[in-house]
Amino acid sequence: MPKKSKYTFIDLYAGLGGFHQALSSLGHRGVWASEYNSNLRELYSKNFPNTPIEGDIFKVDIKAIPDHDIICGGFPCQPFSRAGFMKGFADESKGNHFFRILDIIDSKQAENKAPKFVFLENVETLLKHDNKNTFKVIKDSLEARGYELTFKILSPHEFNVPHHRRRLFIVGVLCSMGGLKDFQFPEPLDISNTTIESILDYDFKPMKGENLHLKKETQAVIDLWQDFIVNFPKNKKLPGFPIWAHEWGANYPYALKTPRSSKLEDLNISRGTFGIKIEGTNFENIIDNFIPRYAQKGNIFPQWKINYIRKNREFFEENKEYIIDFLKRHPEIHQFDFSYQKLEWSCQNALRTFDDKIIQFRPSGLRVKLNNWAPALTTVRTQNVYIPKLGRKLSIHEIAKLQSMNLDHHPDIYNGNFIANGGYRAFGNAVNVEVVKLIAKNLLK
Ligand SMILES: C[S@@+](CC[C@H](N)C(=O)[O-])C[C@H]1O[C@@H](n2cnc3c(N)ncnc32)[C@H](O)[C@@H]1O
Repeated sequence: MPKKSKYTFIDLYAGLGGFHQALSSLGHRGVWASEYNSNLRELYSKNFPNTPIEGDIFKVDIKAIPDHDIICGGFPCQPFSRAGFMKGFADESKGNHFFRILDIIDSKQAENKAPKFVFLENVETLLKHDNKNTFKVIKDSLEARGYELTFKILSPHEFNVPHHRRRLFIVGVLCSMGGLKDFQFPEPLDISNTTIESILDYDFKPMKGENLHLKKETQAVIDLWQDFIVNFPKNKKLPGFPIWAHEWGANYPYALKTPRSSKLEDLNISRGTFGIKIEGTNFENIIDNFIPRYAQKGNIFPQWKINYIRKNREFFEENKEYIIDFLKRHPEIHQFDFSYQKLEWSCQNALRTFDDKIIQFRPSGLRVKLNNWAPALTTVRTQNVYIPKLGRKLSIHEIAKLQSMNLDHHPDIYNGNFIANGGYRAFGNAVNVEVVKLIAKNLLK
C-alpha cells in the first residue's frame, strides 16, 4: 500500500533525483522538478512518472510552479560579488542559480505560501568561497526571508556507505512555523567495519558494451607498482608522501633555485629525471627533455613541492640498492604516461598487497588505498576505481550503490545494452540518498 503523503517537495537541479529518492522513501511527494539536461529529464520521468519535470530553471514560468512544503536542490555554485549584490546590481543576480531559488521562494511568499523548509546541498568549498562572502549572502538572504538556518558537512562514509564524499548540507525552517526547534544533523556512526565489499557484485555479468577491464598498458602499470610494494624490504617503511620515480637519481636544483631559474652550465653538471645526465646547449630543450613536468615551470617552487622532491630524493638514497635493481627489472616504467610514474600508497601500515585494496588512476598518480570506502565519485569516467580482487572497475549498478541509489531505470543502459552517455558524470554530480534521508528524517518529523 502506498504510504500516505506527508509533505510536498520540488526538486530543483534534479539530476538523477537524489533528493526525490530520499524524500519519497519517507512518504513525501514530489510535485515538480527542473533539470537542464534532456537525457536526465527523460530518465527522471521514467523513474518518477508522477512528478512533472521541466527544463532550464531560468526559462520556466516560476508562477506556475505548484505550491510545496519543501524546496530542495543541489544548485550549481557560481561566483557573485557580495558588494554588488548588496548594492542591488541587477547583473549580480541575473543567471545566478541561488538567486533563482530566492525568486521561487519570493514568488510563493507573495501569495503567503512560502515553502516551510529549504534543503540545499553543495560542495564544501562553498563555505569559504569568495572569502566567505558567497555563503554569507546565502545565509543572510534566507534569514531575511524568515528562515532559521543550520548547515553541516557530512559524508556517506560516516553512515556506513562506502563512499567518501564530503558535502555541505544547508537546511532551514520558517521561523513562523516554529523554526529549527530541536533539529539535529545525524550523528556519524561507528565506521570501523565499513567496507567497499558491501556494494560489490560478485555475480556481475557485463552488459553488451560494458567493458570494465583494464587495457594491457594500464594493467602493466599496476603490475609494476605491485611488484615495487610487494618486494620492498620488509624492515623498511614505505613513504606516506607520493612516490615520484622521476626523482630517483636526480639532483637538478629545486630548493634555492629551480631548473628555470638556473644557468645552462649549472644544469649541464646535474642529473635530471630518473637520474639521466643532463646534456645540451639549448635551455628549452634541456627543460623539455630532462626535467620532470612538475619542475619545468616557475623560478621558485612552493614549499610542498620542495618537500616532496627532497623526501623522494632521500627515499632514493635510503633504498638505492632496491630501487636500482627494481628499475633494471622494469625498464618499461620509462614508457609509462607521466602520471603513472607516480605512486600514492595511501595505506600506511596495511598489508603490502594490492589484492585487498582499491586503485584509482589519477592525474597525480596511481593511487592505492584501503578498501574501506571509495574516493568521491567525480564527473570523469576514467577515474572510476579498479578493484584488483574483482579484476575490473565498478559497474554502473555498483556506482549507483555508492550514491545509495536504487533506480528502476539507470542512465547509460538502453534496452539492456550499455552505451556510455553521461551516466558516470550524473552519479558524480548526484547527492547521496542515504545522507539526505537521514537529515530529512530529523528535519521532517
Ligand atoms: C550538482 S547536480 C545536482 C544533482 C542532483 N542533486 C542529483 O541527485 O542527481 C546539478 C544539476 O543541475 C542541472 N542544471 C544546471 N543548470 C541548470 C538550469 N539552468 N536549469 C535546470 N537544471 C540545471 C545540471 O544538469 C545538473 O544535473
